[in-house]
Amino acid sequence: MRTQVAIIGAGPAGLLLGHILHRAGIGFEILEQRSSEHVLGRIRAGVLEQGSVDILRELGLDEDLDAHGLTHHGIYLQFEGERHHIDFPDLVDRTVTVYGQQALVRHLLRQHESLGSDIRFEAQDVTPHAIDTSSPYVTARYDGEEVRIDCDVVVGTDGYHGVCRPAIPGVRALERSYPYAWLGILADVTPSTDDLIYALHPDGFAMHSMRSLEVSRLYLQVDPDESIDDWSDARIWEALQTRLGTDGWTLHEGTITEKSITPMRSFVASTLQHGRLFLAGDAGHIVPPTGAKGLNSAIADVTLLGRGLAALYRGDESPLSDYSRAALARQWKVQQFSQWMTEMLHVHREVADEASRAFRYRSQVGQLQYTTGSRNAQAALAEQYAGLPF
Ligand code: APR
Ligand code: PHB
Repeated sequence: MRTQVAIIGAGPAGLLLGHILHRAGIGFEILEQRSSEHVLGRIRAGVLEQGSVDILRELGLDEDLDAHGLTHHGIYLQFEGERHHIDFPDLVDRTVTVYGQQALVRHLLRQHESLGSDIRFEAQDVTPHAIDTSSPYVTARYDGEEVRIDCDVVVGTDGYHGVCRPAIPGVRALERSYPYAWLGILADVTPSTDDLIYALHPDGFAMHSMRSLEVSRLYLQVDPDESIDDWSDARIWEALQTRLGTDGWTLHEGTITEKSITPMRSFVASTLQHGRLFLAGDAGHIVPPTGAKGLNSAIADVTLLGRGLAALYRGDESPLSDYSRAALARQWKVQQFSQWMTEMLHVHREVADEASRAFRYRSQVGQLQYTTGSRNAQAALAEQYAGLPF
């Protein structure tokens, strides 16, 4: 078999790149190790930057987004029991859109079905070969058969645990972990807020997001070694009530339909390219979720990569050879923003002595007071949250 671009991994990055390539008249095939049910069932991020929305519109992939996306005009930062609104349109003339990654993946897959795109689910032992030659290929097994796909370029959109990054000789992981995790729930209840709330509380961070006007998404800071079994629904609501509570405001409770604990890490690969292999999305970098940047970074990568591939087939290889540099330059800005939001809003229980812990907490309150009190600081947050240019 032969195609122009072999894409490994059918998460949002791989699926969107397929659409971008289709638009550019470039042939592709996507190989995914899991079933389509599994891919459709994953609940992940929920916020699209304005630039991400613009890309989906340009590609004509905005029908479901228009029907179900919720335009938000900012976020709330909460500390010391008070809530402060950061008004994005006023500060930077931009908005963000709350739209679940699950809904985006469902829409991208449906559109691929109507295009008749070549997507192979449940492909096993997917392996890139000869990536430092001009004739790379990918081998895999599906339906019990060994297949070989010859191509011009291999793209690894196979996430953090994929096979493509380890195929790059000498690639390094620049990373850090955090001494806390997020317990996330989905609940069948109308959101109790118009915009997302990010709260620092002495008990830990809490956040109120949503998926629709009927479904709320909420998060709690927990220790990374905690078990979800120790968190009954009643205990979760009690902690959310305590950490998110403010005078005169009610957090509405509802049936919890999903709950899980996710660790947090920051990670960037030292390069996103080796020969004819390119990495995009979680395969190349991970951010802690506090800045809502994971999905948006994946979209930014494949937009840039798509432009590079389109130029390649027009006979200009230079944008593609600049892909890793350009994508990583943007990514490092996103990394520092995500780390900044994360450290400002979480309680640092790992700090050994009481006086240092108190110092840390009070300096975070000072940081939040400055961020919410200065128009310049608000604008810096808004500019980064609503999204840096692609
Ligand atoms: N062969 C084939 N497919 C693979 C392999 C493999 N060896 N390893 C992983 N995959 C698949 C996974 O099953 C998954 O469907 O690659 C896909 C990677 O998808 P994601 O992990 O969703 O990564 P990406 O598309 O880059 O999207 C990034 O996901 O984790 C969130 O916050 C993150 O929103 C961001 C988004
Ligand atoms: C979500 O809705 O899942 C969500 C929103 C904002 C974040 C992280 C997660 O920063």
